[in-house]
Amino acid sequence: MKAWIKLAIATIILAFIIEKCIIGSPNTERFSKSIIQKNLENQIGNILTETGKLQYSGYQLFPTLNWNPNIITSTTTGRLRLKKWDFYAVYTESITICVALADLGYFQNAFITIYEKNQEPITYEKLIPLWDQGELSDSAEVGKTFYNSSSFFVSFTNYNKNYKTIIARNDKIDIDLVFEKNSEQESMVYLGPFNEEMTQFFYSQKIYNYKVHGIIIVENRKYELNQELGMLDWVRSIWPYQGGWIWASGMGKYEDKNIALNLGELLKAKNATEATDDCIIVDNKLIKLGVVNANKSVKDENIWEFYTVNSEPNEKFGSIEGTFKVEKIFYKNINLWVFQSLLHQHFGEFEGKVTTLDGSFNFKIRGMLEVYYCRW
Ligand SMILES: *[C@@H]1O[C@H](CO)[C@@H](O)[C@H](O)[C@H]1NC(C)=O
Ligand SMILES: *[C@@H]1O[C@H](CO)[C@@H](O)[C@H](O)[C@H]1NC(C)=O
Ligand SMILES: *[C@@H]1O[C@H](CO)[C@@H](O)[C@H](O)[C@H]1NC(C)=O
Repeated sequence: MKAWIKLAIATIILAFIIEKCIIGSPNTERFSKSIIQKNLENQIGNILTETGKLQYSGYQLFPTLNWNPNIITSTTTGRLRLKKWDFYAVYTESITICVALADLGYFQNAFITIYEKNQEPITYEKLIPLWDQGELSDSAEVGKTFYNSSSFFVSFTNYNKNYKTIIARNDKIDIDLVFEKNSEQESMVYLGPFNEEMTQFFYSQKIYNYKVHGIIIVENRKYELNQELGMLDWVRSIWPYQGGWIWASGMGKYEDKNIALNLGELLKAKNATEATDDCIIVDNKLIKLGVVNANKSVKDENIWEFYTVNSEPNEKFGSIEGTFKVEKIFYKNINLWVFQSLLHQHFGEFEGKVTTLDGSFNFKIRGMLEVYYCRW
C-alpha cells in the first residue's frame, strides 16, 4: 500500500477515535419536569467566587449582583474560555434585524442579519482577529461596545441605564437606532451553571420591550422605525467544549399591550440549575414561566410547538402553550471539525396562550427561533 494511503487511513481512524471516545456526544438532555425557579431578588454580592466559579443559580428581574470577571481574565486560558456577546434585535411587521459583537476569546465576530418579511434572510459579518479587537460593554446598561474597520462598524453606547444608541454599518447597510426604556421595566437576569462544579456557566441579561426609533437602510430600501420594540441579549459565559441551545425570542404589540417572549433550552447541569430563563413580558412586567420545551411539530416541519412541562400555573410561575410558524430559515454553518458553529435561525410568528393564577391571555407576535450547536 502506498504510504499516503496508510497515512490517510490512520488519520481517519484517529479522528474517529477522538470523535467517539474523547469528544463524545453533547449533553442534550432536557428538563422534563418543573424546577423551583429560584428568584434571587435583592441578593447582594459577587456573581463569581474568589476562584471564578458561579456563586448563585437562579434569576432576577433587576440586576443587583456584581459582575467582575478579573479572576477569569487574569489568565490566558481564562480569557480564551470566556465567551461574551452583546446582541440586539428588532422584530417589526416588515423587517427583523439582529446586530451583534461577539467575543469568543480567540477571535471576535461582528454581524448584521436582516430578514425582510418573506425575502431570503441576509447576513454580513466580519471575523476579527486578536490583533484588531473591539471592546465590549461592562454591563447590559453601562459602557460601550465598539468595533471599527474600513469595512465594518458597530457601536452600542449606553448614555444612561435607560437610553442607548445602536449603530451598525458596512457598504450595504446603515442602521442608526435609539433604544429607550424606563426604570420600572423588569428584565430576565439569568445565572445558570453548565456543570455541577459551577465552573462553567451562563450569565445573561435579556432586556425586552425597549422603545426603538431610527432608520434602517438596506441597500436602497429605507425603513423608518417609530415606537417599535427592541431587545438586548447580553451574555458573559464559560461553556463546555460542546455547546448549544434552542432559543426563541419574540416581541410585538397585541391588543394594546407590548408583549415579549423568551424561551430558552440550554445545556444544563440538572441538579445545580435552579431556574430557566423562560418568561413572558407584558409592558413593564415579567411573568416567569415554568420549564418550557420546544419541539418541531411531527405533522408540519414549518411549525414548532412549545409548552410548559407542568400544565398548571402556581404562585411562582405561569404556563404557556403555543406555536411558532416558520417563514424562512437562515443557515450559518462553520465546520472546522475541532471548531464548529452550526446555526439554524428560523424567522416567523409566535402565537399562543399564557396562563397565570390571575387568568389567561393570548398573544401573536413576531420573532425568531434559533437552534445552535457548537464546539469552541
Ligand atoms: C473608523 O475607521 C475609519 C478608517 O478605517 C475611519 O476613517 C473612521 O474615522 C473611523 N470611525 C470612527 C468613529 O472611529
Ligand atoms: C448530580 O447528579 C450527578 C449524576 O448526574 C451525581 O453524580 C451528583 O452526585 C449529583 N450532585 C448533587 C449535588 O446532587
Ligand atoms: C421533542 O423532541 C425530542 C427530540 O426530537 C424528542 O426526544 C421528544 O420526545 C419530543 N417531545 C415531545 C413532547 O414531542
